[in-house]
Amino acid sequence: MAITTLPLAEARISERVATAVRDGLASSPKRLPPWLFYDEAGSRLFEQITELPEYYLTRTERAILTSDAGAMIARAAGGTRLRITELGAGSADKTRLLLAAAVRRQGPVIYEPVDVSATALADAQERLEREIPDVLVAPQVMDYTDGLELEQPAPDERRLVLYIGSSIGNFEPEESARLLRGVRAALRPGDALLLGVDLVKSADLLLAAYDDAEGVTAAFNGNLLVRLNREFGADFDPTAFAHRAVWNATASRMEIYLMSCGPQTVQLSALDMTVEFRRNECIHTENSYKYQPGQAESMLVDAGFTPNATWNDRRGWFAVCLGRVE
Ligand code: AVJ
Repeated sequence: MAITTLPLAEARISERVATAVRDGLASSPKRLPPWLFYDEAGSRLFEQITELPEYYLTRTERAILTSDAGAMIARAAGGTRLRITELGAGSADKTRLLLAAAVRRQGPVIYEPVDVSATALADAQERLEREIPDVLVAPQVMDYTDGLELEQPAPDERRLVLYIGSSIGNFEPEESARLLRGVRAALRPGDALLLGVDLVKSADLLLAAYDDAEGVTAAFNGNLLVRLNREFGADFDPTAFAHRAVWNATASRMEIYLMSCGPQTVQLSALDMTVEFRRNECIHTENSYKYQPGQAESMLVDAGFTPNATWNDRRGWFAVCLGRVE
């Protein structure tokens, strides 16, 4: 089955990429969507970001899961078995903490990572099945922003959907509301969603996390241009763009940009497109929303979940919330 569906999915994905690049570079102000970051090099750079001293998000959420994964799994399971679905292909050791807690509780666990990238899914499958033998990985190639189509679990089984890592922070408020309603629509009473969100904190801490001293985030941002050069025959000079990070307090989000260091003209031959840049003109490449305490719970309520519990780190920098379908 995978043999016939994969090429179709991949054709659809490259069409989606081309449309996003064409529309984003033709619009004013210029923009590119953050999901474009994650080609092979970009995924590797993101892994490097998660280990930076300034990038507190990953290690803070991991600390919460390290101490509370057992409680999260127990609350989600109630008295029954859990099947665990994750939006995104499993951020390595954070997912492993939850899966290990589920295996300790019930023995074998079915784990369904949902991702548009078949390669990312294959990597997650290989890694997890090797590391936790009682985890059965059932990869789902799907764009979860279009809604979820999941197999009905057994009647005595509950589904726990993981949406951790503050991935939801990339979406505009209306989009994240829509996404959560889409998740809710795929679930049944007793099922639950575990949502990880980054919280508002001082501008200094936020700015450092998105503009690190080593320049890894700058490289991650600039890799977008390298990707466009390769995939669209473009002639961007990545050194002619500077990484810029801004804390937008009004919108409660970190914003990152690629800023043109001077006037320049770029060709994208595969799109038959010419793009002009003024000096200091920016391409807006990412928003990363930061939430108030209690806001994730409100978002869960708006999507039709009942907030069940919230776990925080000691400094109150990050929140992991469990919402249930009643
Ligand atoms: C993967 C969306 C959670 O917003 O912090 C890291 C991506 N961008 N550094 C984030 C990212 C710049 C990250 N998320």
